[in-house]
Amino acid sequence: MSAAVIIVAVDGAAGSGKSTLARGLAQRLGVAYVNTGLMYRAVAAASIARGVDLDDAEGLVDLARGLRFRLEGDDPPTLEVEGYVPVDLTTPGVESRVSLVARHPVVRSVLRDQQRTLGATGAVMEGRDIATVVFPDAPLKLFLRADQMRRVDRRADERDADTNVVRDALERRDARDARTTPLEPAPGAIIIDTSDLSIDQTLDEALGAARRVWPERR
Ligand code: DC
Repeated sequence: MSAAVIIVAVDGAAGSGKSTLARGLAQRLGVAYVNTGLMYRAVAAASIARGVDLDDAEGLVDLARGLRFRLEGDDPPTLEVEGYVPVDLTTPGVESRVSLVARHPVVRSVLRDQQRTLGATGAVMEGRDIATVVFPDAPLKLFLRADQMRRVDRRADERDADTNVVRDALERRDARDARTTPLEPAPGAIIIDTSDLSIDQTLDEALGAARRVWPERR
């Protein structure tokens, strides 16, 4: 992929700070912010609304094809799913179903095409397989790590939820997700451990890496 197009692939475990970083980086680089997890979450939410079984891959594909994704706003343009507001996509029902939606290769393939279209003119794109499958030639790949305790605390804060409940849900999801796509840095990815970094420090590290790839972007 030509470095002329700004594509930053961001991955990392839940609660590692990847969404906060990805949004901030997109803003600073002047490109779109695409959280691809929302796309899988929207399919999970639709499967609840329509009563589609999680083993019914073709039924889930139909739901995925029926969703409309768009970039809204400008600081940064941000992925939205028509008909869904963010809280619809973080309900316990969605949390418990989403990895079971994401394990179907046919669902992944439909969403992958959409992701490539959304990123065509530049994006900071967050998600499991962005650096390996969706944009394997992304000029910059970032992988965020954090201690499990920090991840649980952050997720509990974000969702205003009980720490023990969050820990259980996170462990179950990590284990399921690892069966679909291993949580490993892609070849060439820059690893940032955010356990002891503030949001600004994490952003500074990522911006430093971006400026080495795109020196003209100040
Ligand atoms: O990042 P997140 O928690 O919003 O991801 C939600 C789910 O979707 C999680 O099970 C991982 C999965 N996912 C995926 O398999 N591939 C992506 N590109 C993004 C998310």
